Amino acid sequence: MITYNKEKRIFKLDTKNTTYMMGVVDDEGFLGHVYYGNRITDDGVDYLLRIFEMPYVPSQNSRDRGSFLDTFPTEYAGSFVGDFREGSIKVRDKNGHEAVQLTYKSHEIMSGKPKLKGLPATFPGDDAIETLAVKLADDTLNLEAVLYYSVFEKEDCIVRSITVKNKDSEPVHLTKIMSMTMDMDSEDFELLTLYGSWARERQIDIRPLGYGKTGIGSFRGESSHQFNPFMALVDKNSTQDLGRVYGFSFVYSGNFTAQVEKSQFDSLRVMMGISPECFDFELKKDEEFVAPEVVMTFSNEGLGRMTRNYHDMYRQHLIRSPYKDRMRPVLINNWEATYFDFDTEKLLAIAREAKAVGIEMLVMDDGWFGRRSDDNSSLGDWWVNEDKLKGGLKYLVDEVNKIGLKFGIWMEPEMISPDSDLYREHPDWAIALPDRTPTRSRNQFVLDLSRPEVVDYVYNCISSVLKSANIEYLKWDMNRQITDPGSLYLGRENQGELSHRYVLAVYELQERLVRDFPELLLENCSGGGARFDPGMLYYSPQIWCSDDTDAIERLKIQEGTSLVYPLSSMGAHVSDCPNHTVGRTTPFKTRGDVALLGTFGYELDVTRIPAEDVNMIPAQIENYHRFSDLVRQGDYYRLASYSENRQYDCVQIVSKDKSESIVVFVQVTGRPNYHSRNLRLKGLDPKRIYKVEAENEEVATLHGDTLMNAGLMIANPWGDNVSILIWLRS
Ligand code: DGJ
Repeated sequence: MITYNKEKRIFKLDTKNTTYMMGVVDDEGFLGHVYYGNRITDDGVDYLLRIFEMPYVPSQNSRDRGSFLDTFPTEYAGSFVGDFREGSIKVRDKNGHEAVQLTYKSHEIMSGKPKLKGLPATFPGDDAIETLAVKLADDTLNLEAVLYYSVFEKEDCIVRSITVKNKDSEPVHLTKIMSMTMDMDSEDFELLTLYGSWARERQIDIRPLGYGKTGIGSFRGESSHQFNPFMALVDKNSTQDLGRVYGFSFVYSGNFTAQVEKSQFDSLRVMMGISPECFDFELKKDEEFVAPEVVMTFSNEGLGRMTRNYHDMYRQHLIRSPYKDRMRPVLINNWEATYFDFDTEKLLAIAREAKAVGIEMLVMDDGWFGRRSDDNSSLGDWWVNEDKLKGGLKYLVDEVNKIGLKFGIWMEPEMISPDSDLYREHPDWAIALPDRTPTRSRNQFVLDLSRPEVVDYVYNCISSVLKSANIEYLKWDMNRQITDPGSLYLGRENQGELSHRYVLAVYELQERLVRDFPELLLENCSGGGARFDPGMLYYSPQIWCSDDTDAIERLKIQEGTSLVYPLSSMGAHVSDCPNHTVGRTTPFKTRGDVALLGTFGYELDVTRIPAEDVNMIPAQIENYHRFSDLVRQGDYYRLASYSENRQYDCVQIVSKDKSESIVVFVQVTGRPNYHSRNLRLKGLDPKRIYKVEAENEEVATLHGDTLMNAGLMIANPWGDNVSILIWLRS
């Protein structure tokens, strides 16, 4: 997978369909990016580095060293010594200077993949993985860096990260560290990103790349609703099946930057890493900073191939939970059903009715602890509110278990309400800036997780709750973003470490949780889907996608999310109508079919919804049981996008052995006087014969090649927001 051409000093990393190349040039050892794209054969294509033309390399033309540094396609860019494009790394050294220039020292090719201390990271699993470690250094600063490249051959992914070590006797401050940088020629690529807001997460945005910098990021303390830590460079006019696509996905849950810079010579500098905003990390002698990793993939078959690469990669090499390969219980969550207004009797009534229709777990959401009757108090006081839950938590859980349901619970462990016993006792545990009134959001503050005793307190609260009864699921929420980044625990020199230390502490807490409660089903959540990122997937196999449960809005949210993340990770529930975020009423069937493309569950008061909806639940659950393996493990194909055509949406999943497939078609707006729609299916075995059922009725028996080329006719449905479920078997 990884070779080194000694004579030309070129590294070549091959996956099944792609090649990544870089090379060392000149006496000083500048590391340059050579090539990333379709797999190629030759391993010494150093001419792509353009060092045989003006301005040549510094040893041959020292008077134009600046021109060399400013145009060389670097693999990891220095700052302030000649390259005027944005640098990958910046410091504040013992003299107060910021310059860095890292050059090649040595390298090692190893089998396997080293772990990243304290960070979520992809792992080899059952596959043979090779890793290239390239050691760089800045001898003036006494700074060492190692660039890591792990090659996941089958998934066509290259995973990059960097560690930096201070070898100087004086401390150095790291003020910027990108996890990856890549310089390449600009060829009319566009930038695809996922933007959003609360209830509108991960919408697809595509924009042209002009000269200068174009990018996205977050400094909200979490990956955020507003931008997902992902970007792709796509050929103009690329489709699901055609065009070159470079994907970059950041395995991190905090502040980030993802940026492309187009230079005077039409080159692009792509970079991704922790946001330099609010970042200043002190490294004393021999201390090391480990940066989170970026998972890169290249597809020459449009966005669809990129998506399938990421789904396979994250299912096989990132998600660890035992539930990854298991059918998840069908749960009913009481949030949209009751909000804060519930008690034991109400929950048991829901549980009884839920059991009768085949639901398998009851999840009690926000409002069961402290004195919480709305969102103004009690975060941090994680003991049960016996006014609401008469008889206590164990009594409730036992009763729910007796009814025949499992039990799950909601917590928001990272937070503290100003109106809480915890805050009255420990006001210094909240993140705040001295002498400045801290900004409240949802009337709450964020706990200072850089403090070890806070982390221990939080962990003990979670673990005591989980041990107090037979709790089999935890929804871990985080409902505000971080402002006022000040810590009364960290010293003056270390205030800029808070945001990253906070994320590391969240990871530590969740690591302890999955280690101590290996059978717990953990679902991450952040005011809907503000922390839906690969970092959190390392701990929880599923993440709540959005507080917007409207089936039509979900088409867009789930389209953007599934561009990168597997369907098995997308929390999706059927809720009541009119929908609580948009007031729209959609058929219960459509809500069920759309939720089928995620983890599937309910978020409604089953004792109060119309009888005809209740009566449909058993059949929906039967569908979920029938298709769960396929949805969790299959290959994803997007046949039509409502975001693009504004009329209908269509997703197809094909089992890995191609024996089975489902298609979910949703007509959002009915079209008068229109003929049937022809859907050309994808991913089937051309030679197999498939029996096709639409809504449980056999509609065709055709070969895969016919279905993929001639297509399948869908009669023009009557009405708006109508869904059709199609099942193919061979
Ligand atoms: C935000 C979540 O996304 C909701 O599902 C719900 O758990 C609320 N928080 C509770 O406060």
